[in-house]
Amino acid sequence: MKNQDLLVIAQEFGSPVYVYDAAKIEKQYKRLTSAFDKVEKLRIYYAVKALSNISVLKLLINMGSGLDTVSIQEVMLGLEAGAKPEIIIYTPNGISLEEIEKAVKLGVQINIDNLSILEQFGTKHPKTPVCIRINPHVMAGGNANISVGHIDSKFGISIHQMPLLKRIVENTGMNINGIHMHTGSDILDIDVFLYASEILFNAAENFDNLEFIDFGSGFKVPYKEGDIETNVEELGKKLSKRFNEFSKKYGKKLTLAFEPGKFLVSEAGQFLVNVNVIKQTTSTVFAQVDSGFNHLIRPMLYGSQHEISNISRPKGRDRFYTVTGYICETDTFANNRRIPEIHEGDILSFHNAGAYCFTMASNYNSRYRPAEVLWYKDKAHLIRKRETFDDIMRNQVIVEL
Ligand SMILES: Cc1ncc(COP(=O)(O)O)c(C=O)c1O
Repeated sequence: MKNQDLLVIAQEFGSPVYVYDAAKIEKQYKRLTSAFDKVEKLRIYYAVKALSNISVLKLLINMGSGLDTVSIQEVMLGLEAGAKPEIIIYTPNGISLEEIEKAVKLGVQINIDNLSILEQFGTKHPKTPVCIRINPHVMAGGNANISVGHIDSKFGISIHQMPLLKRIVENTGMNINGIHMHTGSDILDIDVFLYASEILFNAAENFDNLEFIDFGSGFKVPYKEGDIETNVEELGKKLSKRFNEFSKKYGKKLTLAFEPGKFLVSEAGQFLVNVNVIKQTTSTVFAQVDSGFNHLIRPMLYGSQHEISNISRPKGRDRFYTVTGYICETDTFANNRRIPEIHEGDILSFHNAGAYCFTMASNYNSRYRPAEVLWYKDKAHLIRKRETFDDIMRNQVIVEL
C-alpha cells in the first residue's frame, strides 16, 4: 500500500479507519510455513483474538490456516468464516464446563488448561479427544502482561502437577491427543522457545496417544526500522530438527502446531487518523487526533510504541510532537515523537495496527468504533462499516422513569 492509496482510503471511508494489507498477511504465513518445511505435518492455527474480522479469517483459511480460538464466540466466527471444525482449536482459560461442552458439540479440538475441568470433562466425556495446556514455568514475553508461562501465571497446568494430571487421565480413561504451551508474546530469543520446547517434549512422553504438539506462539515482530524480531527461520531449522527426532522416538508422525497472532497480522495493519488540533503549550506541541484508547489501547496498556507517519506530508521537516487522542482521559499515543511537520487536517498512520488493535476497541466516551478496510489485489474493500448511533443504542433498554 502506498501513501497515496492510504489517503484515498481515508477520504473514501472516512477517519479513523483500520486498513489491512492482505498480501503482507500472506507473505508472513508463507514465511512461517517455509521456515518449518522440513516438518511433514505442520498446522498453523491463526490466533483469532489478534484480528477477528471475518474477511481476514476467510483470507487465512483460504491460505490453509487453521484457527486458534479462546471463546465460544470466536469458534462461531471461525465456523461462519467457513473453517471446518477440525481445523479449529479451542484454548479457553477460566471458563465453565458448559462452554467447553458447547464447543465439543460444534466439533472443534478442545484444549483444557486446569485440572478441575479436566477431571469433570474426562468423567463425562472420556472418549472426546482433548489437548492439555501445560505451564512450563518459563518467564518469556515482552512485558509482565503478556508473559503467561511463568510460575505465577493463571494459564496452563503446572508441569509439576504431572503426577496428578496422569492420575486424572488414567482414572477417567480419557483420550489426550495433544499437548500445548504458550509462554507469552514478543519473545525475542529463540533459545527461550527451544528451552520451553524441551520441557514440552518431556511432558509429551507421559502420553501414548498424541497426534500433535502445539508450541503456542510469541514471535516478536519489528515495530520500526532496524527493530529486532524473532528469527523465525533459525527457529524453524532448530526446532524442526528436534521435533523430527522426537517424533521418531515417539514412534509416530506427530503434527507440529503453532498459534501465531501478531506474526501474521501485526505489520499488515495501519490505523489512519485525522489531526483535529495542533496545540502548543508552554512545554509541548500536541497533535490531537480523532481517536483515543477507545480505538487503539496498546500504547496505554502495554507501552507499545507504534510508529507514526504523516502520510499527508511525508517529506516535511521533522519536528517533535506528543500525539494524543480526543478521549476525556489521558490517552497519549506517543511522547515527544519526531514526525514530519503536522498540520491540522493531516492524516497520520499508526503502523503495526493489525494485531490486538481493532479487537480491543470499545465505545468508551460513546464514540463509534472505526471502519475496517482490506487492501486485497490492489483494491480497497470495506470489511466493517463504521458504527453509527444505532449501534450505541442497540441493546439499551429505556425504562419509564
Ligand atoms: C493461547 C494463545 N495462543 C496464541 C496467542 C497469540 O500470540 P501472539 O499474538 O503473540 O502470536 C496468544 C496470545 O495471547 C495466546 O494466548
